[in-house]
Amino acid sequence: MCVSPPTCPRRSVQGPISHPSASVLRRGTAAECHPGPAQGRGLPSLQRGVQPGCSLTALPPPPSTKTELPAPYGPWMEIAHDLPQLIASHRLRSHVHQMPQLSARHLRGREELHLAHLVLSFITMGYLWQEGEEGTVKVLPQNLAVPFWEVSQALGLPPILCHADFVALVTPVWPLHRNLDTIISLPGAESLRGFILVTLLVEKAAVPGIKAIVQAIHAILQLDHETLHKALQELAEAIGDMTKALARMHAPRYQPDCSVSLCSWKDNPAMPGGLVYEGVSDEPLAYSGGSAAQSTVLHAFDELLGIRHSEESSAFLRRMRQYMPPPHRAFVEEIRRAPPLRQHVLSSGDARLRAAFNRCVCALADFRSYHITIVTKYIAVAAAKAKAGRAEPGDGPAAGKPPSALETKGTGGSHIFSFLKSVRDTTREGVISA
Ligand code: HEM
Repeated sequence: MCVSPPTCPRRSVQGPISHPSASVLRRGTAAECHPGPAQGRGLPSLQRGVQPGCSLTALPPPPSTKTELPAPYGPWMEIAHDLPQLIASHRLRSHVHQMPQLSARHLRGREELHLAHLVLSFITMGYLWQEGEEGTVKVLPQNLAVPFWEVSQALGLPPILCHADFVALVTPVWPLHRNLDTIISLPGAESLRGFILVTLLVEKAAVPGIKAIVQAIHAILQLDHETLHKALQELAEAIGDMTKALARMHAPRYQPDCSVSLCSWKDNPAMPGGLVYEGVSDEPLAYSGGSAAQSTVLHAFDELLGIRHSEESSAFLRRMRQYMPPPHRAFVEEIRRAPPLRQHVLSSGDARLRAAFNRCVCALADFRSYHITIVTKYIAVAAAKAKAGRAEPGDGPAAGKPPSALETKGTGGSHIFSFLKSVRDTTREGVISA
């Protein structure tokens, strides 16, 4: 049994213009998911000849990761740098309207592309939510929409702030790991920082677990029960460490403001028609906001342990995979195609392996139980406040007022608690009984 622990004028298209370099937002290195084995940090191939092309092992981040874009992209960086002030003074939209339309094709390499995605995501979010929920817009202006679309296409990511951006947003400042900070701020910066930093700490705690997945699959292929047992022990320990890292959400400096972090234009009553990306599509497009449901980690664990969620939950989680960097998606799919661990443990008749497998399943169910506690505390309380009209004023138009979507639905459109509980319960059902 598992025990829970604790409208805008049209502008002409220009190429990148020369511009004095924007000030560095935060010095240091950004934590980022770096796709592609070319970086030399890719996970070992699960099966001979197969390249997963995913390097979650790149966490903690490589020192060369960028925190600013090349000088021609100064207009983006200057706005990003000033977001809290521009939003608070209701001047962000007019600044965006004056921004030149820069082409994304001069961005070099994935690091610059990821940073550009992060910067354009934040400008977009600020642009849409400058006046709060009642003052959202239906059209993202061309000078922002087109480069955002181009960058997103190049990365295989949707044109919206997603989990991969959250992780790329954090930069450790010296000394490494003792001081973590975000590259870009929004109103409510302290609470947003807390949300994002805890997310990063949870992902960092997961790294040995991701490595253990690769070892476990190799061990199954080689019928090496000793190595498989060790890998499962490491996986259970990593999941336990993720729960401990999640508990840091209770620290006062880490308390999140959900109104800032959960911005979506799909299934959101504040933006029922979605968003027109001017110059990209005449039809409005709908995208879910950033959620750790888009993190590769739990998808990978579920696939390894053979957890089978309900049809509705699976459909949502499968959709969330479209918000992952493509190499991460490919990694999860590769685990899915690998020889099934559960079946291997069952047919081995090895009680020690079964116990180690069950410890992993229980640790995962316990993580999900603890996450429900966190969500209950932050979202339910915030949603109740919104309903009662008792929201506290914050330091920006959107602060202190939870999105109406949270009163009845999850950011992904599923009822939050029934979804989370269903996913937790189906995890528990993954235990192999003696
Ligand atoms: C106060 C902080 C948090 C809140 C309010 C929160 C809220 C939510 C919500 C509403 C969902 C449902 C899916 C959606 O609507 O997008 C969700 C899913 C999820 N969250 Fe969080 N979350 C928080 C922190 C975290 C952290 C730090 C992690 C770990 C990195 C995390 C991991 C997940 C995962 C993996 C899912 C998918 C469901 C599952 O696989 O169990 N959450 N979260």
